[in-house]
Amino acid sequence: MVHFGHANSLRQAKAMGDYLIVGVHTDEEITKHKGPPVFTQAERYKMVRAIKWVDEVVEGAPYVTTLETLDKHDCDFCVHGDDITMTADGIDTYHIVKSANRYKECKRTEGVSTTDLVGRMLLMTRQHQQVGASEYSVDDGHSTSLSTDASARSPWTGVSHFLPTTRKIMQFSSGLVPKPGDRIIYVAGAFDLFHVGHLDFLAAVREKGDFLIVGLHTDPAVNRYKGANYPIMNLHERVLSVLACKYVSEVVIGAPYSVTDDLLDQLKVDLVCHGATEISPDEDGSDPYQVPKSRGIFEMVASGNSMTTDRIVERIIEHRLEFELRNRNKEKKERAAFKAYVQAKEQGKNTIDRIVVE
Ligand code: C5P
Repeated sequence: MVHFGHANSLRQAKAMGDYLIVGVHTDEEITKHKGPPVFTQAERYKMVRAIKWVDEVVEGAPYVTTLETLDKHDCDFCVHGDDITMTADGIDTYHIVKSANRYKECKRTEGVSTTDLVGRMLLMTRQHQQVGASEYSVDDGHSTSLSTDASARSPWTGVSHFLPTTRKIMQFSSGLVPKPGDRIIYVAGAFDLFHVGHLDFLAAVREKGDFLIVGLHTDPAVNRYKGANYPIMNLHERVLSVLACKYVSEVVIGAPYSVTDDLLDQLKVDLVCHGATEISPDEDGSDPYQVPKSRGIFEMVASGNSMTTDRIVERIIEHRLEFELRNRNKEKKERAAFKAYVQAKEQGKNTIDRIVVE
């Protein structure tokens, strides 16, 4: 997937230098070494390109980073989080750049991972819903509860919850204010599991003005109109996902479902946009865009992209068994890697030769 944990590592990487090139692997490589990707390579290339700290994307970068790759793109060093990733054969994917001292580490963002998000989506199956609402909470369990094998728990994924702090929001925020004369655009939505459809929509509306404000509905509001166990990502997580996008200038954290006069006046909004997706009525049945429509400042802007949050969830559920296996294997591999990593540190080594997964 592409989530705000990735964005946070790219933010840290960018801060270590001047120009950030991100190598993104093909679907084939990921399937071979990790299991099926949630987003296709075309979707992932596009989403990574839209993260505001990224200067360039290298499509189809090799799974094991080589010195040739770094040299070809004029890179001084390679950055990865402080967890260990391995090839299907148990080889540290960064062993070459580590040995050559062309490797730096950034901190992995606690409490968010593809494993965890996939876990949340898998728990959305109808079977699960029949168990009853009290059995499920977006904040608890996720990926680890997928595995009955307690030894499959990973030290890196699915064991802690993401803690939203003002510091993290500040790090992600552009800190910009509109300049005099800027045309201010407002859009609102769930923006759950931020995806290429959202991205194309935000790119299209950004073209309509200079300063783009995204209003994010609260978790109970999203749950009211989406039902089931939506949203998959809570408000804080959605805030960071949207703030990481280069088209976004500012975010309203918990925007009113109906766009009000107050909101339009306070934020000095010139235009309100919505994509080509269905607009759910407010609780009292009214149109949430009634006010901007009556002011003549509402426009429908088609993203031209049919991706939806529901489709992502469908992809996961369709491939449920493969993803369950992926999560179990990933956690097992990470456990083995962690053991090897601790051993290597004890021996004063900074690389691991080969990791054996039992
Ligand atoms: O569904 P959600 O509330 O996350 O959508 C946020 C905004 O993105 C809405 O205006 C919606 O119409 C737009 N969108 C789009 N194309 C997509 C998905 C969402 O224009 N494929």
